[in-house]
Amino acid sequence: HSEYVACLTDPSQIGCHALSRKANTHKGSFGDVAIIGGTRGMAGAGVLAARAALFGGAGRIFLVQPDVELKLDMLHPEIMCRDAAQFEFNQQVVVIGPGLGQDQLAIDLLRAAIQHPYPVVIDADALNLLATKPGLAAQLKTRTAATLLTPHPLEAARLLAFSTEQVQQNRAMAAKELAQRFGSHIILKGAGSLLCDPQDRHYRINSSGNPGLASGGTGDVLAGLCGALLAQGMEVGEAAALACWAHGAAADALVAAGSGPIGLHASELLPVIRSLLNRR
Ligand code: APR
Ligand code: MG
Repeated sequence: HSEYVACLTDPSQIGCHALSRKANTHKGSFGDVAIIGGTRGMAGAGVLAARAALFGGAGRIFLVQPDVELKLDMLHPEIMCRDAAQFEFNQQVVVIGPGLGQDQLAIDLLRAAIQHPYPVVIDADALNLLATKPGLAAQLKTRTAATLLTPHPLEAARLLAFSTEQVQQNRAMAAKELAQRFGSHIILKGAGSLLCDPQDRHYRINSSGNPGLASGGTGDVLAGLCGALLAQGMEVGEAAALACWAHGAAADALVAAGSGPIGLHASELLPVIRSLLNRR
């Protein structure tokens, strides 16, 4: 693969300034994010994604649960917890997958998300469903609003019917294949996350991050952050790039401060990501 590769090194390259706020704004100016996931036994995945959307600057955040495990996030009551059975899609950016489960309700919710005419981020269990439901994958290609898939290597392997080794041996090929097959923007996660755009042959490699991120929940934070940046009006490729950079840079800052890599955990990333997004 001889195509252009850009390393993301600092936010000035990837448009943190796009988040600057004018004085005469209100919560409606920064968009709504609906996180669909966090079912029984996996509530934390939904909560982490919702909190990431909060710290990432979305105007309003809904945590839409297939099985209402939580009525309230006691630490962050700003997050509105809703029952998926009664949830109305309107103009939210949707993040679907973290702790979603894979039962019939999950399938129905994923179908509704794919039909939603606003940006959608698809992660975790929603990707696993996509890998086994060719009909849903076909519908994905008909979407006109932005679609971002955020697989880790095993999820990517399932989507492509490859082995994880095949994905890891040629990550660029795997990311491009995913972008083309699913007509979507891709973040292929892992050390040096790869960003791929379905419209062109370029891909980018994220340069921030460290093994402190190798702990449960960090992927959920990335997905929620992507949702928040999309809700604030960023273009999907830019949102993906900024989210990856800030997520990794937060982990790097925590390691530099002595809080990792050992024992670094997803929740700690949130206030650091917020500081990075506010840096000018
Ligand atoms: N260096 C840099 N970044 C890393 C490293 C590393 N060594 N290890 C992990 N990361 C980053 C990835 O790039 C990604 O952004 O941490 C994040 C991990 O995301 P996931 O693999 O999705 O992990 P997470 O979601 O927290 O937990 C896994 O969720 O996707 C489901 O089925 C999966 O149940 C499992 C759980
Ligand atoms: Mg994950």
